[in-house]
Amino acid sequence: MVAVPVPFVSELPVTTLNLVGAGRVGRTLATRWARHGVFEIQDVLTSRPESASEACAAIGSGRPVSWLADMRPADVWMVAVQDARIAAVAATLAATLQAGAATNPVVFHCSGAQNASSLQPLADLGWRTASAHCILSFADVPTAVQQFAGTACALEGDASARAVLEPAFAAIGAQCFAVASEDKVLYHAAAVFATNFLPVLQAVAEDAWQATGVPAELLPQLRASLLRNAVDNITRLGPAGALTGPAARGDLPAIARQAQVVRDWDPLAGEAYQALSALTLRLAGH
Ligand SMILES: NC(=O)c1ccc[n+]([C@@H]2O[C@H](COP(=O)([O-])OP(=O)(O)OC[C@H]3O[C@@H](n4cnc5c(N)ncnc54)[C@H](OP(=O)(O)O)[C@@H]3O)[C@@H](O)[C@H]2O)c1
Repeated sequence: MVAVPVPFVSELPVTTLNLVGAGRVGRTLATRWARHGVFEIQDVLTSRPESASEACAAIGSGRPVSWLADMRPADVWMVAVQDARIAAVAATLAATLQAGAATNPVVFHCSGAQNASSLQPLADLGWRTASAHCILSFADVPTAVQQFAGTACALEGDASARAVLEPAFAAIGAQCFAVASEDKVLYHAAAVFATNFLPVLQAVAEDAWQATGVPAELLPQLRASLLRNAVDNITRLGPAGALTGPAARGDLPAIARQAQVVRDWDPLAGEAYQALSALTLRLAGH
């Protein structure tokens, strides 16, 4: 007999989820929760009515609404809007819904850089506030839905909110861990080091190569081979084991010469060279 894969269905009691913001993250999480029967997707609000309808179609459930006041009480609210809008959405939500909320609903946002205090107006009403940051690049929804299982997810905020969110995230394949509210900014800065700075370093290197006459047509190949090499070495040997270059060797005269030349070429890149060399020397134990 051929075994037929059975979709995982949560054994958690199904609770209602409202979405404020249903872009890449909102749609991805709601799609997985709907498929796994974790939450009943209830009302969906975005900034444009047509995108709320598109989101409900993509998720396969939910009712698009055009105004906050049209949203029904729900057990859990996900505020998946852009970081800069979270505080304003929380304030408007608190002002609009204070009379109609379910008893102490859970509300969370998805920002890596902000903590649950961005939802303070709702905490003031007795809502249980949290943040849930999934460490995945949600570039497009179908891919993110496929890739989500195994994603690390940082939970922060009110303990009773985390107690609701942790099993819900775990049920769609997230690996949850706790981050203290006061550590959230440093936690997110670490992700910036881990990923966001890589393209910047690459761009500086390519500008400097072009300034020194390296043919432009060689750059894609240089980029691919050096990055692949670095990724292979770092994943195999760890960051300290993969170190190479003048700072890794503790060659202080070479570092000083290069820092000066880089500073003359581009003062900001010179500062970065100096700071990164100091970090390299520390990592190499010099
Ligand atoms: N993208 C990632 O890789 C990633 C990874 C981890 C965490 N996050 C975090 O997840 C959160 C959402 O990011 P995202 O990438 O999903 O953003 P996004 O794709 O730009 O989607 C934002 C959504 O919020 C809606 N919106 C904006 N202002 C609103 C308002 N005032 N009221 C109601 N809805 C509003 C937008 O409506 P329209 O559809 O009408 O424009 C859109 O549906 C952010 O906190 C972000 O830092 C993102």
